[in-house]
Amino acid sequence: MSRRVLVTGGGTGIGLAIARAFAEAGDAVTVTGRRPEPLEEAAKEYGLTAKTADVSDEAQVAALFDEAFDVVIANAGTGKAAKVKETSLDLWSRTLAVNLTGTFLTFREALRGMGSGGRLIAIASTQGLKGSANIGAYAASKHGVIGFVRSLAHEVAKAGITCNAICPGYTQTDMAEAAITGMMSRFGIDRDDAIAKVVVNNPMGRMIAPEEVASAALWLASPGAASVNGHALALSGGEI
Ligand SMILES: NC(=O)c1ccc[n+]([C@@H]2O[C@H](COP(=O)([O-])OP(=O)(O)OC[C@H]3O[C@@H](n4cnc5c(N)ncnc54)[C@H](OP(=O)(O)O)[C@@H]3O)[C@@H](O)[C@H]2O)c1
Repeated sequence: MSRRVLVTGGGTGIGLAIARAFAEAGDAVTVTGRRPEPLEEAAKEYGLTAKTADVSDEAQVAALFDEAFDVVIANAGTGKAAKVKETSLDLWSRTLAVNLTGTFLTFREALRGMGSGGRLIAIASTQGLKGSANIGAYAASKHGVIGFVRSLAHEVAKAGITCNAICPGYTQTDMAEAAITGMMSRFGIDRDDAIAKVVVNNPMGRMIAPEEVASAALWLASPGAASVNGHALALSGGEI
């Protein structure tokens, strides 16, 4: 049976891989983001529906849920490396507004029309399960996402809905690319050395593919995962 699936930040990277995977499984997929261009391109190529919305804006998120969805994936996110003593209040607030408040608004509004069998999936990060230098605001936001997911899981369980987080390590997307080029200029190193730094904590010694995250999302949304609730699933080769 075709499900109605919503993926925030679904025009690029991990969100696009997830949207494609659900569309290929026969589901009706809506992708959202702030920029119309990547959304429209993805919609055309993969037969998706595109809607613009900023996940940190309460009214814009509410408008997305004028229709009901069976599977809602809070994937939209932002991350910029900075030492805590160099983190402006603006960077801190913006990171929490998009990653944490955005997930809260998305799931709160999703619940308005979600029935038994519904699935809420947040794309958190290994940085929601551990700390690392130079990424305090991002790690705080992702720890918050996991705390929120674990709490909401208790509220929705009896309604037949599950709420889980997926926690990828560094994944091959624009966001990781920005981290790599940032390291190249910060440490004066070449691309190979920057990639080696990025994967140093991953026992597999490689980045995660967006399709691996999509595969985990498909499984969490499957009937067989009906009792997996409040979980934070690390995709990190054993890093954590
Ligand atoms: N790449 C990694 O290494 C990695 C690892 C662990 C977790 N993650 C998480 O995975 C998720 C996806 O990231 P990605 O790696 O795929 O990076 P990405 O390609 O930069 O994707 C981020 C997406 O979020 C959207 N977005 C950003 N701010 C938004 C806002 N205020 N409102 C609505 N949409 C917004 C962006 O679209 P617009 O700019 O058009 O709005 C974009 O489509 C994020 O939550 C990220 O924290 C990434």
